[in-house]
Amino acid sequence: MKEIIKNLQTEISEVLSQVEADMKLSSKEFFELQGNYISKTGKITALLRELGKVPKEERAELGKEINALKVWAENQFARVEKKIKEAELAKRYESEKIDITIKGKEPKIGALHPVTHIKNEIIGIFEGLGFDVFEGPEIEDDYHNFTALNVPADHPARDMQDTFFINEKLLLRTQTSPGQIRVMENRKPPIKVLVPGRVFRSDDDATHSAMFHQMEGLVVDKGLTVCDLYGVLNKLALELFGENRKTRLRPNFFPFTEPSVELDVSCAMCGGDGCKLCKGTGWIEVLGGGMVHPKVLKNGGVDPEVYTGLAFGVGMDRIAMLKYGIPNIKLLFENDARMLEQFK
Ligand code: DAH
Repeated sequence: MKEIIKNLQTEISEVLSQVEADMKLSSKEFFELQGNYISKTGKITALLRELGKVPKEERAELGKEINALKVWAENQFARVEKKIKEAELAKRYESEKIDITIKGKEPKIGALHPVTHIKNEIIGIFEGLGFDVFEGPEIEDDYHNFTALNVPADHPARDMQDTFFINEKLLLRTQTSPGQIRVMENRKPPIKVLVPGRVFRSDDDATHSAMFHQMEGLVVDKGLTVCDLYGVLNKLALELFGENRKTRLRPNFFPFTEPSVELDVSCAMCGGDGCKLCKGTGWIEVLGGGMVHPKVLKNGGVDPEVYTGLAFGVGMDRIAMLKYGIPNIKLLFENDARMLEQFK
């Protein structure tokens, strides 16, 4: 028995020396190896079981020796295990090492879209005058987009805008003007509001796109006149295009205003002499507007005997094209970074 104990100790010694020399075992594999000696089914436990078979008088001494072997073995395994775990940790630290001194990737900073610039600019101009912003739905009903704006069914004025219908009642709004009705339905005058948004028409060439952006303006109060209308439109045009431009009103027709006007600014390219940009007229058409038609006020729930209104609608894409010299409206919607980066 003594011999067996001695041999087992030697075996463990050799096994552990080998492990330490190679340092190839993972801590899991090492745990399994340890189980061969120290565990319920291990060799040392088996020895203890053998004790029952030895003569009584030798049992105490042998028991002590086996226990001493067990304590020694446990210490040895613990020592090597610690070494293996330390090595594993060091390896992990090495593989997960990060160099915090490496220069980071600089995030790309985007730019606002030119139409967003124009929108912010217009809102900036009017917010100092007490206007706030309302946004209506892009899917609009026929009533708000047309009928309430004094364009009854089958009226030829409907042909002014090629409409995408969704069904008999619903359509993609062709203009932001239905926002006028929605605001009046929900607020009492005095009203000063801007309605920006996407609008849709079946239209497609260098200056027209099926989706574009408008900004509607509406003022409803007592005693407004065409002078107020001109004042508002003039301010808008000069702020957008510069104080040194000239402006003029031209009569026009819109079903929802009476009288209706169009505002022109003098051409920046030729200074008013006439060129390709202004088609020889010296003037550039900028926006439409007018005094809100009494029927439209009424449809919005406003008494036209008491209040008058002025309104305007600006194509923001067109303003962006004029202001930044963008030749084709499609350039605004292609999302080409080379173009958009110029607006940082
Ligand atoms: N809604 C018109 C259009 O899309 C633009 C417009 C003209 C709006 C006159 C107005 C206005 O509010 O008074 O062509």
